[in-house]
Amino acid sequence: MGFCLYLLTLLSLFSQSTAQWCYQSQYSCDDTCRDPRHWAAQFPSCGGLRQSPINIVTSKVHVNSALPPFDFIGHTNVHNITVENKGHSAHFVLPQSVRLTGGALPGHYRAAQFHFHWGGNGRPGSEHTIDGERFPMELHIVHIKEPYGSLAEAEHDMAGIALLAFLFEETTDDHPHLDTIIGALGRVQNNGSSSVIPNFRLSDIIPPSKDLHMYYRYVGSMTTPGCEQAVAWTVFHRTLSISSRQLDTVVKQCKFWTGQPMIDIFRPTQPLDGRVVYRSKAAAVLTSAMHLWFGVFSVVLVNV
Ligand SMILES: *[C@@H]1O[C@H](CO)[C@@H](O)[C@H](O)[C@H]1NC(C)=O
Ligand SMILES: *[C@@H]1O[C@H](CO)[C@@H](O)[C@H](O)[C@H]1NC(C)=O
Ligand SMILES: [Zn+2]
Repeated sequence: MGFCLYLLTLLSLFSQSTAQWCYQSQYSCDDTCRDPRHWAAQFPSCGGLRQSPINIVTSKVHVNSALPPFDFIGHTNVHNITVENKGHSAHFVLPQSVRLTGGALPGHYRAAQFHFHWGGNGRPGSEHTIDGERFPMELHIVHIKEPYGSLAEAEHDMAGIALLAFLFEETTDDHPHLDTIIGALGRVQNNGSSSVIPNFRLSDIIPPSKDLHMYYRYVGSMTTPGCEQAVAWTVFHRTLSISSRQLDTVVKQCKFWTGQPMIDIFRPTQPLDGRVVYRSKAAAVLTSAMHLWFGVFSVVLVNV
């Protein structure tokens, strides 16, 4: 143990600027990658005051009637989509015709990709927790505000990215449409490999917006380096289902860029640092949506 620590210290002196970032599950004596506690040394935003994910304390959320439902555009259209193992997770690339507006967001947003965070060997792996509870898996759908074309362009806008998060609950029955996704993950086991899912419809895996009235909203960041603080987060109250069998298969297939099993791919929860988490009211009032957005803004500015 002592020798290991000594080696680690030596290695970290030499690899300070070159180490690759990784999740805690990858970090070991043989692989001194930069684990979440050390992301900020290379990616300063990761040490900022508006970081994600967070633990949502339901007794402390501010219920707000100015958080209306979303309008999903193109979610029922059929596309051939590509999935790629990015070394830390697998990204499912969405066409830009999949868009959204509403939800008290300031504009239209184009979908870029979706991906999942999971645990391993029976451990839950969601990034957001609710009253301290971690869920088995979490889906993130990343959207970029129009007219930005990339994360790099959007990162200077506090609401440049809209991230939709769905938490999964384990059920006995299979989710009828997840096997397509799981099969695709099985075809991209190694870093850099990719595969096509024909005839994919986003509406097969998430409910229509009319069934998603209730959600949490806060301002935060990307949960992987560079941790850009440009994200309007929406965590839906409604969970998605996945069977134990499906979950077992999900966590067993992919490998990190290091070749180790891709498990426990979530960042630990981050301090709120004075931020307020809002919750929509089931029967939303549409009028003061923009007003609320500026409210969220000023709370953050006051606290920074
Ligand atoms: C998907 O790919 C198939 C086979 O390559 C092609 O025939 C079909 O037109 C494509 N569908 C769409 C919606 O692009
Ligand atoms: C992982 O794959 C990407 C391309 O998708 C490549 O740029 C990167 O160097 C690979 N990493 C390793 C360690 O092989
Ligand atoms: Zn994510």
